[in-house]
Amino acid sequence: MAANIIRTQVGIVGAGPAGLLLSQLLHLEGIESVVVETQTRKHVEERNRAGVLEQGTVDLLKAAGAGDRMRREGLVHHGIELLFNRRAHRIDLHELTGGRAITVYAQHEVVKDLIRVRIDAGGQILFEVGDVCLTGLDSGAPSILFQHAGDAREVVCDYIAGCDGFRGISRPSIPACVLRFYEHVYPFAWLGILAEAEPASQELIYANHESGFALLSMRSPSVSRLYLQCRPEEDLSLWPDERIWEELRRRFTTDEGFHLNEGPLVQKSVTAMRSFVTEPMQYGRLYLAGDAAHIVPPTGAKGMNLAVADVRILARALAWRYRTGSSDLLASYSDTCLRRVWRTQHFSWWMTSLLHRAAGDDEFSYRRQLAELDQVTTSRAAAATLAENYTGLPFDFPGEQP
Ligand code: FAD
Ligand code: DHB
Repeated sequence: MAANIIRTQVGIVGAGPAGLLLSQLLHLEGIESVVVETQTRKHVEERNRAGVLEQGTVDLLKAAGAGDRMRREGLVHHGIELLFNRRAHRIDLHELTGGRAITVYAQHEVVKDLIRVRIDAGGQILFEVGDVCLTGLDSGAPSILFQHAGDAREVVCDYIAGCDGFRGISRPSIPACVLRFYEHVYPFAWLGILAEAEPASQELIYANHESGFALLSMRSPSVSRLYLQCRPEEDLSLWPDERIWEELRRRFTTDEGFHLNEGPLVQKSVTAMRSFVTEPMQYGRLYLAGDAAHIVPPTGAKGMNLAVADVRILARALAWRYRTGSSDLLASYSDTCLRRVWRTQHFSWWMTSLLHRAAGDDEFSYRRQLAELDQVTTSRAAAATLAENYTGLPFDFPGEQP
């Protein structure tokens, strides 16, 4: 076989959390894969995104052999705070869910850990590839064509996993007439900062304020991650550091005199907010996973967790196929994923609508939100629903294959 052709069992497009974890889960099942990624290794290892891992995500990363550093450095949280009407109310996630928790550990740290375990196990990840295109999706031998280090190359495989995010090429490689898209774009965005400041709270604080939503999160005992609701087209040059702190101080004000710790900003960005679902998540020998198939608004931190849940299902379906010859689980991959995807879409939309103010929202909408927040923080049933969804639907969620 020509040197520029690589033969493997599963070709994976994208070295984000979905592609890398899939490659590792397949390796543990004795299945070979090759990952192709357009960016450099440094870029994907430093790309700051999500930070909250559900219990199931943590358990799966540990089982995949990628959990050692997360075990040491991840911050396990048993509760979150909801702040409204100048008062903070704690939701005891641990008690309400019979012992579940979340772990604060940055997505790019997960990516670093996964790259390390893949490379240590001899896995192939080709960074800095270009002109990626997929062929033969409805044949028995699909392939990924791309440029790498000046050469035209090809990964010939049995199956392709499209894990290349929202702007990747996998989803557009499926004939448009086969797919349906469901989309909702929100009339606001998040301005996010990383600050060298000790987190002002041990737990995350989600704030509903008349001026808009704010979130206090963290990355380590000395680094705070903070977000505030802004306009989708927000111009960052209009947000000097002092304006950001002033707005954050306003939104986190409490009658008890909450004090926000401040420090030098090391990063500033604006994240657009949308809900998006592709149906079905498969075509021929191509299976979409993670952001390539769906996007959730960030409220509730579900994006990466959903990507992880998809590849867990895909890895099992592929393992079943190679072990038994049966494609049954592959055939039902999309249906199996979409149940969790839509449940998570609903939760992320609900958290978003509970906490944000849209331009033009009237006083009635605000009072309605306050009433709902009052219910969530005083009714055990309502708090338990939030806690169950926030810590993550269990992997034995009815309807999912064992
Ligand atoms: P990605 O992480 O996007 O990985 C896809 C990979 O494919 C990338 O490495 C990309 O470079 C590569 N790629 C793209 N095109 C190609 C191609 N043609 N060929 C080969 N490779 C390709 N979620 C939260 O829960 N909380 C947050 O605060 C949060 N913040 C976010 C901020 C931003 C700016 C973005 C974009 C997302 C954020 N998310 C957040 C969502 C979360 O990060 C994603 O859900 C998660 O990254 C999904 O993982 P993935 O592996 O499916 O996709
Ligand atoms: C973070 C992001 C989220 O979307 C969220 O709901 C909680 C925390 C974070 O980046 O830490």
